[in-house]
Amino acid sequence: MGTVFVTRQTPGRAIEMLRAAGHDVDVWPEATPPPPDALAAKLAIAEAVLSMVVDRITPEMLDGAPNLRIVANMAVGYDNVSPAEAAKRGVVVTNTPGVLAETTADMAWALLMAGARNVVASDRDTRAGGWTTWSPTAFLGQDVFGATLGIVGLGEIGEAVARRASGFAMRVLYASRTRKPEVEQRLGVEFVTLDELLRRADFVSLHTPLTPETRHLIGARELSLMKPGALLVNTARGGVVDQDALIAALRAGTIGGAALDVTDPEPLPLDNPLYSFANVVITPHIASASLATRSKMAEMAAANIIEVLAGRPPMNSVRP
Ligand code: NAP
Ligand code: GLV
Repeated sequence: MGTVFVTRQTPGRAIEMLRAAGHDVDVWPEATPPPPDALAAKLAIAEAVLSMVVDRITPEMLDGAPNLRIVANMAVGYDNVSPAEAAKRGVVVTNTPGVLAETTADMAWALLMAGARNVVASDRDTRAGGWTTWSPTAFLGQDVFGATLGIVGLGEIGEAVARRASGFAMRVLYASRTRKPEVEQRLGVEFVTLDELLRRADFVSLHTPLTPETRHLIGARELSLMKPGALLVNTARGGVVDQDALIAALRAGTIGGAALDVTDPEPLPLDNPLYSFANVVITPHIASASLATRSKMAEMAAANIIEVLAGRPPMNSVRP
């Protein structure tokens, strides 16, 4: 039976599952992640790690982890570890597909609605005593009903976001690496280039993984193509957007606003200019954060560890 390092307290039954399978489970006790040297020290003796998206596991750490057999990320994204570098050292990387798309899509919509209708800005103003009268001109937002939604990256989450748009009678455009005729038929979505999507959409929602190809996919040029009032929603990864270019576009007023669950870096330092815009909503990377979904994610990661330490293939290995 192996030593499993779990980098944070997790909801659900994940720890119980690992202990019931006979493993020696070491749970990092703090609310903040193990610093790199502590993570490296834990990996040096672990056979498995149940990791979070913020635990950067470097090739050097993998070199110093002779017993490690699996990195089980409690996330669908795995840009915090290189599956190729892990595979070179005989370590499998797993993720948690299939359990968080709906919850994450709900949050993309929460952000879209919040940005479109000034939910956060007006709440802040109301608490500060700004609600002195009913005003015909205060907090005028933009209609979601009947607008055009652009989805960048039509995978599990992108599709779940698209499905929700039908209740708002929206036209849905998508740009993705691969065209998906079956989804087009089923959901009535239209495949376009990224440039066309940016020119036509009132709401642009990002759903690609962070890879070398998608880093700064949305930069100054792409932002300049967006409609003047359009809202950028990012529940993917902060690095998919060139944040300096986004700040410049917000300063220039060339886009309508941004609603961001992810930033670069995370947490976003309090002196970051993004906090200064009333038309920017920022949440702390919580798109999958419902108790039910986070529990399923942790349990899925634990189940992958149990399989690998028992000498069986994991259910959710990611391709290097
Ligand atoms: P998925 O099912 O793998 O979908 C990702 C989609 O992005 C796929 O359709 C994919 O390609 C497309 N894509 C990949 N590279 C692209 C490129 N260069 N240009 C355009 N499209 C590209 O993943 P998912 O479950 O939907 O999750 C997407 C990402 O959301 C995750 O990787 C993670 O980073 C992020 N996420 C964030 C949170 C949060 O808490 N904020 C929660 C969950 C996930 P094809 O077109 O070939 O299919
Ligand atoms: C969260 O960010 C995930 O990738 O699941």
